[in-house]
Amino acid sequence: MAEVRVQVPGKVNLALAVGPPDERGYHPLATVFQAVSVTDELVAQPAPPGQMWLNFSGEGASFLPTDETNLVTRAARLLVKTCGLRDAGAEMHVTKQIPVAGGMAGGSADAAAALVALNELWQAGLGRAELAELAAQLGADVPFLLHGGTAIGTRYGDVIEPIPCAGQYHWTLAISHGGLSTPAVFRRFDATATPGPVQVAPELLTALAEGDVAGVGALLSNDLEAPAKTLKPELKQVLRLGRGAGADGAVVSGSGPTCAFLSAEPAQAELVAERLAASPLVRSVVQAHGPVPGAQVVEVNHG
Ligand code: C5P
Repeated sequence: MAEVRVQVPGKVNLALAVGPPDERGYHPLATVFQAVSVTDELVAQPAPPGQMWLNFSGEGASFLPTDETNLVTRAARLLVKTCGLRDAGAEMHVTKQIPVAGGMAGGSADAAAALVALNELWQAGLGRAELAELAAQLGADVPFLLHGGTAIGTRYGDVIEPIPCAGQYHWTLAISHGGLSTPAVFRRFDATATPGPVQVAPELLTALAEGDVAGVGALLSNDLEAPAKTLKPELKQVLRLGRGAGADGAVVSGSGPTCAFLSAEPAQAELVAERLAASPLVRSVVQAHGPVPGAQVVEVNHG
């Protein structure tokens, strides 16, 4: 039986500046994404025409819908429609490591993985640029997860521009008990924040280009951190704990509640991980590095 296996990373936002919502309620933003080595794997096989079967295993799998509302199924339907593939069907299995509702874009990552896997399985023949257009229709984070590396995201985060990034970034990720709803965090932002300029600090771009990891750590920022903290006050303590253990930087990832700690040295990252793992406020700790590539085929068998 034909089978395509795709690996896709999660992301951390090194900076996230958010503006006031537009008429659709969507927020213009300027962000710096980095893809990190916490990965989901999607395996796609053929199914009867028109059938899209989906199931999940691993981290948080039982919380995820497997019907037509899932972004993975929507990615499959969008590819079918765009390419006129009337006889296409797929059975997809996703093994999750990216935390669910964690601010690391796990759902968007799986949709990016589905586009890459099904383009190969169905031999749809779309290039990366065409896949990126479909990705942007699915969600603001999907184009970056297709792309990977380190990149600036503008408009709603869906317009991606790769940027120079030197050095190895050691991330310690503190996964929380429970998740946070992205729309709820944006609503809290609207109710409480006075949006500043929607731009990325040039100092951060310089530190990334120079591989000054400790400098990057000092410049991590996120406009959604304050609203995430009001919805989950224990995040303040978690951030303090990692900083106290010697992390070069600490920030809530995206809309949270995952907290991301950056270290220039692996030994330091190890220490941060040990300290966080001992806290009852943290459900689990994951160590990762970045930048890593976006969604890519790791195995293909055309049967
Ligand atoms: O893009 P995605 O579907 O993942 O976004 C989830 C939700 O987050 C949106 O429905 C919207 O409420 C909010 N969002 C936003 N502005 C953005 C990105 C997401 O308001 N730039």
